[in-house]
Amino acid sequence: MARHFLTLLDLSPAELQQVIARAIELKAQHREGSAGEPFRNKVLGMIFEKSSTRTRVSFEAGMAQLGGHAMFLAPRDTQLGRGEPIEDSARVMSRMVDIIMVRTYEHEKIERFAQYSCVPVINALTDSFHPCQLLADMQTWIEQRGDIQGKKVAWIGDGNNMCQSYINAACQFDFNLSIACPAGFTPDAQLVADNAERVTVLEDPREAVANAQVVVTDVWASMGQEDEQQDRKSVFQPYQVTRELLDAAADDVIFMHCLPAHRGEEISEDLLDDPRSVIWEEAENRLHAQKALMEFLLQTS
Ligand code: CP
Ligand code: NVA
Repeated sequence: MARHFLTLLDLSPAELQQVIARAIELKAQHREGSAGEPFRNKVLGMIFEKSSTRTRVSFEAGMAQLGGHAMFLAPRDTQLGRGEPIEDSARVMSRMVDIIMVRTYEHEKIERFAQYSCVPVINALTDSFHPCQLLADMQTWIEQRGDIQGKKVAWIGDGNNMCQSYINAACQFDFNLSIACPAGFTPDAQLVADNAERVTVLEDPREAVANAQVVVTDVWASMGQEDEQQDRKSVFQPYQVTRELLDAAADDVIFMHCLPAHRGEEISEDLLDDPRSVIWEEAENRLHAQKALMEFLLQTS
């Protein structure tokens, strides 16, 4: 049976730690030029129904650097875009390639794809979750500060796919998560209730960041919500992450953002230049974390 990675819950806490430890090792090997070609003759299929810079570049470069090959598949150029059923596409593609990543809208679509795929399927972002980004974020924390167990993370802004993946991460990595969202933009209530032991939803960003060792945010309007962008600006304005907001967190706080960022919206113009921001390292870690993830899924499937 193929192992899939549709949310962080698909790997056990120990397996997630193992993948991140391997990502740190692969990062060092990448620097030394000693990683070898563990993906020789392996092919990754990449289905993108939404735009991407980091995800595409990191998966494609990662495959090539380890001796494999990645195939970019835009729906408009495949039969998927002309209505061929997901189930049929999954059955056919998975007979030809070794591993598949999918970026799409409804989370239910990737679940259906995975159900009919005989090779591992990786969630490269859905409307509900973005687990690959969390691997990179957790790697970044571990590199900067060590174990995240028992620490406090503050999520500021929209209760979106990234926020919901942080909720899963709080469970799998055992940290406390304070979420500050405007009313009406909170994460899925059932997901919050299932993780009530570690997750608190508030409205006040200053309350959420108090004593937080990590502050995280994301865009106010995600892909697919472009029509709401203007209306959201006024609702979300009090949720902008600024240097002053970071000052209200723990002294050793770090700031993360999955990117792309909108300066002057969810972050102040100067925030990415603040020494507490680790976003470039975080972005790079997508490359290493996904190499480790693909290696894990290929070995355990
Ligand atoms: N963070 C992230 O997934 O970026 P892209 O949309 O550029 O892939
Ligand atoms: N929440 C954002 C993340 C982009 C990487 C989106 O879904 O557009």
